[in-house]
Amino acid sequence: MAELTVTDLYLDYGTGASANAILKGVSMELQRGEVVALLGPSGSGKTTLLRAVAGLESPKAGKIQIGERQVFDGERKLEMAAEHRNLGLVFQSYALWPHKTVADNVGYGLKLRKMGSSEIAERVKKVLSQLGLGHLGERFPHQLSGGQQQRVAIARALVYNPPVILLDEPLSNLDAKLREEARAFLRDLIVRLGLSALMVTHDQGEAMAISDKILLLNNGKIEQQGTPQSMYQTPDSLFTAEFMGSNNRVAGKVLQRNGERVTFDLDGITVAGTARGSNVGADITAMIRLEQVRISQVETSNAIRLPLSTCMYLGDRWECLFHRGGVAESGMRAYSPQRLVPGDYWLQLPEESLWVF
Ligand SMILES: Nc1ncnc2c1ncn2[C@@H]1O[C@H](COP(=O)(O)OP(=O)(O)O)[C@@H](O)[C@H]1O
Ligand SMILES: [Mg+2]
Repeated sequence: MAELTVTDLYLDYGTGASANAILKGVSMELQRGEVVALLGPSGSGKTTLLRAVAGLESPKAGKIQIGERQVFDGERKLEMAAEHRNLGLVFQSYALWPHKTVADNVGYGLKLRKMGSSEIAERVKKVLSQLGLGHLGERFPHQLSGGQQQRVAIARALVYNPPVILLDEPLSNLDAKLREEARAFLRDLIVRLGLSALMVTHDQGEAMAISDKILLLNNGKIEQQGTPQSMYQTPDSLFTAEFMGSNNRVAGKVLQRNGERVTFDLDGITVAGTARGSNVGADITAMIRLEQVRISQVETSNAIRLPLSTCMYLGDRWECLFHRGGVAESGMRAYSPQRLVPGDYWLQLPEESLWVF
């Protein structure tokens, strides 16, 4: 069953001549027990979409349904107030009250709803223990680490038992190492509690790790949506392909096309790639993920020859840059299990992994 359905949503900031279209016909579904990541570059409309679902922004047209309830319908001029939508919200800035204890922060919303104090205490205790915060109820926010504060913000959203939680870049205030731990914690929590979540992030690695489905926004429109695997392995557009991984990108001229197989001229060498997307013309952009490039010291098929420029140590492997020099030329990058000695290498670009757009 869909816990959240958004249909053809349009939203402008400003009115009349100064109106700025932000959401341009967005449709999506969030199924029960599913995590959907709202991914996209800065300014693409992720936060705006989340806020519209929460009832904090007014769309111009379209529909929003939470479970069975219609909460927004542009045609019928129906707009349910945010506090009646019964959603759990977690913002990037945790927005904890500094002078309230952890337990009071988490229970405050229930108190406003006039729930009895013994039931509040019980609910707060339960959610704090679910989040591994059971022993911290009497502390104040400044006595917690960033990761713990972030969990308190999540506890505060979950204490209502909302059918859907909305999270806006919940991990981006944490430093890199903590963020990875928190991501695993959050994924585990969501699965364990069977929550349905819509989470905004601009980090494609985070989106893939945490979600069942990714919705990629590009300038207020959905560029592509699907499972993390399909978004990564079978992108439909250059935008999706580039956004989802670490890539080499080259421009070329098509020599021949035979079904999906496209041969093109790359700097005087003929290579073959696979057409992706619908509009492959004469001038193409080809793209290959770094991990698909094979480095060889001997001549090999579908390969370009380039001198090694530098190798960077990544811990578990080396990232090597090859180019002929010249400031404008970005060259090719590839991973190697060990540091390479200076010299020329053949960089093989497997046909099925060299995507032509
Ligand atoms: N309150 C606002 N008034 C006017 N423009 C806004 C407002 N909030 C956001 N915007 C603009 O809307 C666009 C989308 O913003 P946002 O949804 O915050 O993007 P994202 O979360 O994907 O980075 C941006 O161009 C931003 O400048
Ligand atoms: Mg945002």
